[in-house]
Amino acid sequence: MGGNAAEFVVTAGPTREYLDPVRFLSNPSTGRMGFAVAQAAAKRGCRVTLVAGPVSLPTPAGVKRVDVTSAREMEKRAVEAVSAAKGKCVFVATAAVADWRPARCAAAKLKKGASRSMTLRLVRNPDILRSVSRKRARGAFRARLRLVGFAAETGDPSKEAMRKLREKGLDFIVANDVSAPGCGFAVPTNRAVFFMRDGSRVELPMMSKLELARRIVSKALEEDRR
Ligand code: C5P
Repeated sequence: MGGNAAEFVVTAGPTREYLDPVRFLSNPSTGRMGFAVAQAAAKRGCRVTLVAGPVSLPTPAGVKRVDVTSAREMEKRAVEAVSAAKGKCVFVATAAVADWRPARCAAAKLKKGASRSMTLRLVRNPDILRSVSRKRARGAFRARLRLVGFAAETGDPSKEAMRKLREKGLDFIVANDVSAPGCGFAVPTNRAVFFMRDGSRVELPMMSKLELARRIVSKALEEDRR
């Protein structure tokens, strides 16, 4: 790789969507997969920006970390990092972004009062990966950009993974069945299948998230040489 190393921009972890100053909607993503990708890319000599939601993991050596809270903030910082890249850039979206956020965030803590129920109106959050993909299609970036997404599904992930690959305009997608033992949130291992844009697929055995991250980085760099 040497001086021509690609840059990586990786999103990781959950996002938090506040409804008042002390309450939020979120999910149990630990950020492990994204931190492992960042670590593996840095080990290969690549420059790495890790845009991380609220997680309690240490920053891997040689990685620039940008901490964010909400999906909108994550989108802004991820687009900034990709916009700053020149040459080759790989955007890896591992974050478990909240699909919805409260329509408004109250300025003061919401009071229960005497009410027996409460309605929370939600609005859609941006799809960060799709928005980076659309910007790429419009020629908004200087870098030659490769896009890698994740599809965490329950049950056979192939159909959904292929739909997301196409709809989000990705170069490849890492799919896994999060209901299978040893896969998904908060476990150190994963078993994945890569679905490539050219229709090919790579089935991997169960392995640590770090080993899977190394395979993702290698595949992305291989794609980049095409
Ligand atoms: O559509 P779904 O959420 O399953 O897509 C998963 C892929 O899209 C992941 O790579 C995830 O990081 C990315 N994504 C995103 N912004 C969203 C939702 C998903 O970047 N709002």
